[in-house]
Amino acid sequence: MKKALGISGSPVKDSNTDILVETILEAISADQEFIKLSNLEVGPCRACKKCVYTNQCVLDDDFKWLSQMVLDADALVIGTPIMYASASGFTKAFVERLWSLRHVKLLTQGKIGATAVVGWAPTEDVSEWLKFIMIGAGIELVGNVVGHGSPGCFTCGPGETCSYSVWNSGKKIEKMSGLKLGMEKIYQGHLEELPDNDPLTNPSYKILKCISVKDQPETMEKAVNIGKAIGAKLETLG
Ligand SMILES: Cc1cc2nc3c(=O)[nH]c(=O)nc-3n(C[C@H](O)[C@H](O)[C@H](O)COP(=O)(O)O)c2cc1C
Repeated sequence: MKKALGISGSPVKDSNTDILVETILEAISADQEFIKLSNLEVGPCRACKKCVYTNQCVLDDDFKWLSQMVLDADALVIGTPIMYASASGFTKAFVERLWSLRHVKLLTQGKIGATAVVGWAPTEDVSEWLKFIMIGAGIELVGNVVGHGSPGCFTCGPGETCSYSVWNSGKKIEKMSGLKLGMEKIYQGHLEELPDNDPLTNPSYKILKCISVKDQPETMEKAVNIGKAIGAKLETLG
């Protein structure tokens, strides 16, 4: 039986990224394993280059066995939340450590892969970055899905009155730079401005709706279809 490995770089329990990665995995119909990086110790690459002639990272953490799982997998699905317009730190550290598998041999070559990215206001760049990483690792990319998650701010507790929420920070940036960030459109239907609100001196909002990828049928369907396409590819490999 072929093996599929799903890796989520979200630290949140049962997160949107987890859901997309697991949905893809379940549609593959192969032996499957789901790994949450935040439950492991996988630190960033130290650039010591001791892996260059062995293709084995010398750092003593969970990448020791996780790298073997990556090597054993026929299909690899990597998912990340967007944090500060980038992949999560967990994802970034894991991706850096994949470097050990590259030198001369490109040990990840020939695997089938897919990516899943979730952000409150997801842009294509993190998804493009992850695609680029996987293609560079010699992985045949079958699909990529981008989901819409909840805002980091406003759902945190004091966020509705926080002067430094992403909304108020954005408003300050707009005021100071004259740039238009288009936040009204992103937040429309999700955030209600309360009557006593003044974005700069007395922030006062109500979050109306948190978001789960489960409520996005097109996104979920795309994840299922990616899983099926990976399954079909694996079958052709015999
Ligand atoms: C510290 C932090 C920073 C974030 N930065 C961004 C961001 O730059 N862009 C964005 O679209 N969403 C951002 N978000 C929102 C998350 O991407 C969103 O909540 C997503 O659902 C997280 O995925 P998860 O549910 O799989 O953890 C941020 C969230 C946190 C906690």
